[in-house]
Amino acid sequence: MSLIARDKRCIWHPYTQHATEADPLEVATAKDSVLTLADGTELIDGISSWWATLHGHAHPKIVSAFAQQAATLDHVLFAGATHEPAVRLAERLIEKAPKGLSRVFFSDNGSTAVEVAIKMARQVWCHRGEEQRDVFLCLDGAYHGDTFGAMAVGDPDPFFLPFTPMLFSAKRVAADSDAVQKALKQLGNRCAGVILEPLIQGAAGMLMQTVEFVQQVRALCDEHGVPMIADEVMTGFGRTGELFACGKAGVTPDLLCLAKGLTGGSFPLSATLTTEAYFEAFLSPERIRAFFHGHTFTGNPIGCAVALASLDICEEELTPARLDSIGSRIEDNLRARLAGQCHVQKLRRTGGVVAFDLVPSGTAGSGYLSELQPMLRAAAIERGVLLRPLGNVLYALPPASTTFDQCDQISSAMCEMAELVR
Ligand SMILES: Cc1ncc(COP(=O)(O)O)c(C=O)c1O
Repeated sequence: MSLIARDKRCIWHPYTQHATEADPLEVATAKDSVLTLADGTELIDGISSWWATLHGHAHPKIVSAFAQQAATLDHVLFAGATHEPAVRLAERLIEKAPKGLSRVFFSDNGSTAVEVAIKMARQVWCHRGEEQRDVFLCLDGAYHGDTFGAMAVGDPDPFFLPFTPMLFSAKRVAADSDAVQKALKQLGNRCAGVILEPLIQGAAGMLMQTVEFVQQVRALCDEHGVPMIADEVMTGFGRTGELFACGKAGVTPDLLCLAKGLTGGSFPLSATLTTEAYFEAFLSPERIRAFFHGHTFTGNPIGCAVALASLDICEEELTPARLDSIGSRIEDNLRARLAGQCHVQKLRRTGGVVAFDLVPSGTAGSGYLSELQPMLRAAAIERGVLLRPLGNVLYALPPASTTFDQCDQISSAMCEMAELVR
């Protein structure tokens, strides 16, 4: 029996409608920017395998850090124990992150990094005697992950509608400083914090905001005395052309959520960074005031060793700058070939992320287009590129190993896909 047939008998894939979707790709190997399928077909990984792969697949330094650490100390619980890779990684993250963040809490994916941030923010209010602060302010279209807290601060439409009665209340506003200011005033002392994906709202359709907006949110949080939570699960580690989007905007959030690119996109590890003031708010002779949160694989040594190797690569290979030049090459190609095509709108780029909206005449946008999505995805695969449009948004976000020839192939595929839905 083929692997696909066996898969179909036992696997439940994420974000997949099994009744209608095409068979999954059978991926055999991955190297640099190329995924090789079992039948030998090569595909350029145009979306960095869900925005994770940073330097390229199977970077030798990551592979070697992985193997060495697995042979030395593969895993140990992180409550009441510590180890060199975790301490060194925390030190390096603090050194690299926007100034003022001095404590690192590890978990294992982007959603949990967000859960940790939300729980820390809420518990600090409780420690300060402000239990009434139970509403987080977030942005329309926000996506912060799939766990309950992360869903609550995300936009429920379309993914989380069945769960809305079970989610804690959050206030969503447009990504606009006036709207944020108005909501903060309205919420007053109910507000527990503001959470945003700085510079790029990924799952919302690669919506891009200015550094000024991020700075304004910081200023508004200061004015209203509430924490700013920056979810850099996608934007972190160079995607915006700088190591962190907050760094690009010159702001320090109170809580910073990191995952995906933390390990170069090769191992599930995440981190929530915060300030000394936040850490100290939990210190007490009473044990109950501790932060009672932790996962089995918190601070996993292999993940930490791999993340350290990834940070080395970021420095040695100037990964953020490389991602920026890759994004620039793709953007230039698209501007040259798509100019004047009125069904192609809002061509945009931040660092290594390039996107445009497809708005064919006579259709109502993303609803209709979402039916086209499988066709578009298949069209990209036929052209040797793995892309996964978000509704009517076509985007590329390849790893730093992507050559200019591969960038040109990605751009050509995107232009031809746009042509198909004119
Ligand atoms: C901004 C952002 N936050 C959180 C998450 C959730 O991360 P994970 O899928 O690792 O739980 C994602 C995933 O795409 C994301 O883009």
